[in-house]
Amino acid sequence: MTTMKIGIDALGVAIPRRYIDMVELARARGIEPGKYVEGLGAREMAVAEPGEDTVALAAQAASRALAASEVDRNNLGLLIVGTETGVDHSKPVASFVHGLLGLPTTMRVYDTQHACYGGTAGLMTAIDWIASGAAAGRSALVICSDIARYGVGTAGEPTQGAGSVAMVVSANPGLLEIDHGVSGAASTHVHDFWRPLGMREAQVDGHYSVQCYLDAVATAYRGWKARAIERGLVRGAPGEQASEQLARICYHVPFCKMARKAHVHVRKTEAEDASATWDAAAEQQGIASFKQQVEPSLGLCARVGNVYTGSLYLGLAGLLQAQAAGLAGQRIGMFSYGSGCTSEFFSGVVGKAAAARIAAAKLGDMLDEREKISVTEYERIMAMAPTAPITDGPAGDGFRFTGVTNHQRQYAKR
Ligand code: HMG
Repeated sequence: MTTMKIGIDALGVAIPRRYIDMVELARARGIEPGKYVEGLGAREMAVAEPGEDTVALAAQAASRALAASEVDRNNLGLLIVGTETGVDHSKPVASFVHGLLGLPTTMRVYDTQHACYGGTAGLMTAIDWIASGAAAGRSALVICSDIARYGVGTAGEPTQGAGSVAMVVSANPGLLEIDHGVSGAASTHVHDFWRPLGMREAQVDGHYSVQCYLDAVATAYRGWKARAIERGLVRGAPGEQASEQLARICYHVPFCKMARKAHVHVRKTEAEDASATWDAAAEQQGIASFKQQVEPSLGLCARVGNVYTGSLYLGLAGLLQAQAAGLAGQRIGMFSYGSGCTSEFFSGVVGKAAAARIAAAKLGDMLDEREKISVTEYERIMAMAPTAPITDGPAGDGFRFTGVTNHQRQYAKR
């Protein structure tokens, strides 16, 4: 086990420039708005046009992360993009981003895939690479980027979204030091959510997927807890709940209510392990603890929707945007879930520079600059072909997909 401090030095977020209001979507579908707003916890949902594809969002988030970090881009040795909505069967999203940002030619560059877990796979690889010494003083860029798409009129429709979170991973990180080697994983071969080759829309067994997530979080949490107690990061005496010793917990957020279900389930798991009673009163305590430990991380997720690989890290960004100053030096929990399924519960300590780094990510401006569109306009965008002609957007620090020439996807600065 390394004694180096390794983790996320800075992050950058990119989201589409348009969104819809969930009350308006519910009304258009003849559904009581309470189902989307309270039932799922969604307020707004990002709508990506074809020009805002996985590559364009990834490149934009990465350039923002690099701008917010003190790491020199010429000292990067590894670029990994976690995605489940890539743009080519062979050429990785990472390769496009590498070219668009003009990063060093001496780097390893590739994608990782396992549904929403793909970004965490990249993050863990980057941390191990630095801890092993193979990085030889260099840093990594890990990007999560996806377009979550179930289709108009489906049960999954209110849980769509799109966006990218890019993270500079380094020694002596400013944002979050990851507890290296202290994690629990849980994997099972299930068909809860998948996207057959050639299909744009994900297939999902919605309620089953929720159950698969809950089963996974219980196993992964138990694995993390055992190692965290062993390493003395949390106390494990009878009656002491490890989860309560975490200042906050960020969960993978396919929709905000899922984070509440997950947290209450973790509490239930703790109760089972301690042979304690799990009744209505205990559940109410779980909900109260959700409000304090988890809800502060959901501000951005409620306004963007599911961004698949980036969802957990959008939660982290939202948490730090809201509370970074007060959390410096405190340990938080993180749970990453990828359908299919694999998952990991891990933890980290918020850095002293977190407030400054998250301010540099300008997350508030990013939301304010968006344009609200009608449900009719959203449906028009959803019906566009993936290679449709691109509408011009305002100038910015972003990139856009501009079309295909000789079967090669083309991009330009916005
Ligand atoms: P549904 O069946 O339409 O909704 O689909 P429901 O009937 O379950 O209702 C949802 C909630 O709204 C319920 O709350 C209702 O009670 C409540 P709950 O009982 O669950 O606490 N409700 C109301 N609340 C207030 N006022 C009202 C009202 N009416 C109802 N008037 C479902 C929901 C999530 C299944 C669907 O949207 C779906 O299939 N989504 C996609 C799948 C998904 O997000 N799964 C999550 C776990 S899997 C995962 O996280 C991985 C993933 O990110 C992919 C990856 O890994 O790549 C998806």
